[in-house]
Amino acid sequence: MYIMLDTSKSSVGQSGDFVTIIDERSGKKFRLAIMRGTMGSPVVDISRLQSEMGLYTYDPGYGMTGSCSSDITFIDGEKGVLMHRGYDIGELAEQSDYLEVCYLLLNGELPARAEKESFTATIKYHTMLHDQMQYFFRGFRRDAHPMAVMVAVVGALSAFYHDSLDIQDEGQRKLASYRMIAKMPTIAAQVYKYTIGQPFVSPRNDLGYVENFLNMTFSVPAEGYRLRPAVIRALERIFILHADHEQNASTSTVRLAGSSGANPFACIAAGISSLWGPAHGGANEAVLNMLEEMQSASRVGEFIARAKDKQDPFRLMGFGHRVYKNYDPRATVLRSSMREVLSELGVEREPLFELALELEKIALQDKYFVERKLFPNVDYYSGILLRAMGFPRSMFTVLFALARTVGWVAQWREMVEDPLQRIGRPRQLYLGSPPRAFVPLDDR
Ligand code: SDX
Repeated sequence: MYIMLDTSKSSVGQSGDFVTIIDERSGKKFRLAIMRGTMGSPVVDISRLQSEMGLYTYDPGYGMTGSCSSDITFIDGEKGVLMHRGYDIGELAEQSDYLEVCYLLLNGELPARAEKESFTATIKYHTMLHDQMQYFFRGFRRDAHPMAVMVAVVGALSAFYHDSLDIQDEGQRKLASYRMIAKMPTIAAQVYKYTIGQPFVSPRNDLGYVENFLNMTFSVPAEGYRLRPAVIRALERIFILHADHEQNASTSTVRLAGSSGANPFACIAAGISSLWGPAHGGANEAVLNMLEEMQSASRVGEFIARAKDKQDPFRLMGFGHRVYKNYDPRATVLRSSMREVLSELGVEREPLFELALELEKIALQDKYFVERKLFPNVDYYSGILLRAMGFPRSMFTVLFALARTVGWVAQWREMVEDPLQRIGRPRQLYLGSPPRAFVPLDDR
């Protein structure tokens, strides 16, 4: 049996502080180093636990496990704080634009004017898809879910861009990242066009990143699309809010896939697959389904009762978070700007928003949600806004994937460039059969 004994304090740093573990049977002591980051909880370095003590750790869902070190994003879940490279998400959402945030995530600093212009020009240069890719789209059923098409098309990029697959080459790594950030809007718009049976609209490099995406999505050859500043600004903000989020399930999937040396397009396709689930990025679509099913505030109690019932698999979609034990700051930004944005979009009254507010109010007063610190997360309000902009709900998670691509790519690059990087390989607690002799077929 083992117990944690003490946390002795000396100087701060990788090997300054320790926890001591005592093996009660042998009396042997083991010291585990405590590592401190620039912010957040310290972590215990268990990398020598097996070689020194013959132990692994058991942590289903990795809730207590730091899988890497990172300079990109910081979350304080208790306080409801989110920062990229030290900049608060609220300030970035209000004062920055998406491509600037992309540059920040990739390079660590906000760009100077010339750097911003050059980065924007580079991204615009890569917006088109290889012409052959249009035939790839055509292999899908028109009624396929857009995420099913997107995951396949992004994985297929590795079959088209052979000059950005060598992960040991820094130039190729950068080229792959620029290509993905640039091509995701084109892919997302083409996925949409394909599923509704309209012709693909080519990217226009005279437009900004968000404008170009809106134009490819909503214009048709016969008729242009009126680009409204309110829609552009609202979508830009949604993209910024979704750009990165530390070691969430899809980002960890990208890192794990990439840890084997897989090419970047394959890694991002793996991330998209992970994002699709309703417990993760698929929740924005699920929230709208839930609100529509609920229809009126008179049924809020019924849905809350179902969410609390352990026999019922239903959970309040858009509520709860592994890290936030407070309001998700991204939901704060979306909620506070919602009325203004809806009215700018020409929506004076949105019954689903009123319903969402009512549901939130009742849930936040309910003992079950209070005790478990369950608050609205980023997915709770985003779908209502996207719907008001004209996106069908099957596209919501596609938009999340589009915006998150920069985070995946930045985290993937950081991992490949980390000298301590090695293949991801968790262990297990085996609960199966002990050794036994093979039984010949006739004797079973
Ligand atoms: C995203 O990780 C990230 O950073 C993700 C993300 C990002 O930007 O990358 O922020 C994006 O994925 C947001 C989350 C979207 N998902 C949902 O909105 C789906 C609904 N929420 C949950 O299923 C859940 O809250 C999770 C998946 C988000 C978090 O799951 P955890 O951390 O494993 O929490 P848990 O399931 O252990 O919950 C703790 C308790 C449990 O009750 P008890 O067993 O202790 O009695 O809270 C309950 C849960 O049953 N609970 C809920 C609930 N969420 C948690 N009960 C009712 N409704 C809910 N939504």
